[in-house]
Amino acid sequence: MKISPPLVIASGPAGRGEYLPFLDPRYIGAYTLKTVTYSPKAGNPPPRMRASEFYVINRIGLENPGIHGFVEEIKSGVYDELFSKFKVIVSLGGDELSEYEKVAQIMKEFSGRFVALEFNFSCPNVKSGGLSVISDKERWKAALRNIRRTLKGEFLLAKIGIEGIFVEEAAMVLKEEGWDGVVLLNSVRGYHKDPDGTVIAGGLSGPIMKPISLRAVYEVRKKVSGIYIIGCGGVYTYEDALEYFEAGADAVCIGSALFKDPNIANEIGRKLSKGGIV
Ligand SMILES: Cc1cc2nc3c(=O)[nH]c(=O)nc-3n(C[C@H](O)[C@H](O)[C@H](O)COP(=O)(O)O)c2cc1C
Repeated sequence: MKISPPLVIASGPAGRGEYLPFLDPRYIGAYTLKTVTYSPKAGNPPPRMRASEFYVINRIGLENPGIHGFVEEIKSGVYDELFSKFKVIVSLGGDELSEYEKVAQIMKEFSGRFVALEFNFSCPNVKSGGLSVISDKERWKAALRNIRRTLKGEFLLAKIGIEGIFVEEAAMVLKEEGWDGVVLLNSVRGYHKDPDGTVIAGGLSGPIMKPISLRAVYEVRKKVSGIYIIGCGGVYTYEDALEYFEAGADAVCIGSALFKDPNIANEIGRKLSKGGIV
């Protein structure tokens, strides 16, 4: 995947193009859309998010129009401006692995349109009690093989978390199945309680994640050669990005930092370009 600078807008925080007016295409390597699942999802009722200096916790619940609704949106030109300004990564998921395979079939129609297709393997497997779809390793391997066969020639990224499998083991499986890269990490399960007792059990992101994601990048780079690594978690400054490159990342993601100030992404991208990291 050729992106310059090696800075990617993470799936989720930037929605499906909502940050277009705030981001400078010169400094953003690629823009990832929020995950689209096989079936449409209304998402969770509020409260959906809390933020502190150290973390963001969210329980959005993957609100999205479903793959058929998304296809209609693409065809009706909803993303034309985004496509004209940025390289776009589509993020895909489902309630079980057979839905990932179906989504891959549907995306065949858009061959070459996206710089990469990212499969979000942190979605809970709805039928088997909510554990990550990655937990059944043999079934996961078979799904990876089928998707690779379906989407020949596309740059395939797998986004994973730390629940369900060791990242280096997952990266090895991805490489064996001919996938191109891995995004490390998706948010980690977290718990937050407001003073009034309201509990948010959701995905944890932000500065608190950086050492965890850095370790994931470091381990995968050490143990698996020839796989493209996108580091994701707590990149809020240029120095954070450099730490990821030192640990072995090929590119970095900006996620929740966009909530603080969308210009953070432009600024980091500008410094990477200026520093010759392209
Ligand atoms: C509000 C919110 C929504 C998210 N939605 C998605 C999503 O739809 N798909 C996905 O793969 N990751 C999603 N994520 C996870 C981010 O892409 C990223 O992996 C995580 O936030 C860590 O990066 P950060 O610390 O830079 O935010 C979401 C994160 C946040 C904060």
